[in-house]
Amino acid sequence: MDKIKVGIINVTGYAGVELARLLSQHPQVELASVTGRSAAGQSLSEVFPHLAGIDLTIKAKLGDVELAFSAMPHKESAEEIIPLLEKGIKVVDISADFRLKDASEYQQWYGLNHPAPQLLAQAVYGLPELHRAQIAPAQLVANPGCYPTGAILALAPAVKAKLIGPDIIVDSKSGVSGAGRTLSLATHYSEANEDTTAYALEGHRHLPEITQELKLLNPGQSPSVTFVPHLIPMTRGILTTAYANLTSGKLKAEELRKLYLDFNKDEPFVRVADSPPHTKQTWGSNLCLVYPTVDQRTGRLVVISVIDNLVKGAAGQAIQNMNLMLGLPETMGLEALPVYP
Ligand SMILES: NC(=O)c1ccc[n+]([C@@H]2O[C@H](COP(=O)([O-])OP(=O)(O)OC[C@H]3O[C@@H](n4cnc5c(N)ncnc54)[C@H](OP(=O)(O)O)[C@@H]3O)[C@@H](O)[C@H]2O)c1
Repeated sequence: MDKIKVGIINVTGYAGVELARLLSQHPQVELASVTGRSAAGQSLSEVFPHLAGIDLTIKAKLGDVELAFSAMPHKESAEEIIPLLEKGIKVVDISADFRLKDASEYQQWYGLNHPAPQLLAQAVYGLPELHRAQIAPAQLVANPGCYPTGAILALAPAVKAKLIGPDIIVDSKSGVSGAGRTLSLATHYSEANEDTTAYALEGHRHLPEITQELKLLNPGQSPSVTFVPHLIPMTRGILTTAYANLTSGKLKAEELRKLYLDFNKDEPFVRVADSPPHTKQTWGSNLCLVYPTVDQRTGRLVVISVIDNLVKGAAGQAIQNMNLMLGLPETMGLEALPVYP
């Protein structure tokens, strides 16, 4: 079988360049075209020496492909995607443009009128663990945000089983690559190293995405989520701890664990860990490790999840979605184990 041609819009950002690395190991697709504003005309391996061996020139415009990944900033992403969809090309959008179903929420959280509200109904939220059947036939898949991926996978079994009340706290810690490759004072080495800070306390843009998906899991309940992200001095990784009150009496940790194991029994990339997981246990891999437990003193659910923000939180999940959209095995090209130490 001929390899399927795929392309990356904006290979010069962290999500785009991680896609190039992962796609180079995929046996059934050929990375045929990459774009990048600041590096157009240069070879990919010249700009990113770790990709030596991929013989491609970065272009200003995408060439002929069957499926494209857009790793552009939001708004610009939608503008790039519209003409591709009109040509019948399948698209996985890594930006936030098509994640929220309600255009007014996009306006509220991103401060912009949605650039293509007519496409929101057809876009599928690309969390395979929840929407696998809708992703496979979709032309446009909205890859989830990095924080929402960890938070939703941590909470989904408990919310679906109606085990918890609506008041949920999501506390997340992210490495600095989550802020992207664009230079900023906050991610400057001497600012971020040996430092930890909470941010976006007035409301982070990933909050409506978390709420949207939790509501779908239990439509009878409107979740009230407090989400506090933190920046910590590591390159990759997100650790999320989620807290919520259990609805019914005392639940044993073993019963909760069994529920999480059952929910994830056919999931290739979600593992229920035996002990509180470390971000390093997912580094470079498409895994999400979850560890559910019960605080018996307070009757509270506590769930920890870890992911690599650039893999399960971005490029790896995008390839998982691509596999589903192209009818390939879901795990193809994503089997590599995490890097340790
Ligand atoms: N980082 C993550 O962990 C992560 C996870 C999930 C989703 N995402 C999403 O993925 C997308 C890319 O994020 P990233 O972290 O890879 O970003 P990034 O590393 O900051 O890359 C952004 C790149 O976009 C290019 N760019 C910026 N403004 C542009 C414009 N107006 N038109 C064209 N190119 C522009 C710049 O490349 P040039 O220098 O070549 O112009 C810049 O290097 C974003 O939508 C982000 O929300 C990121």
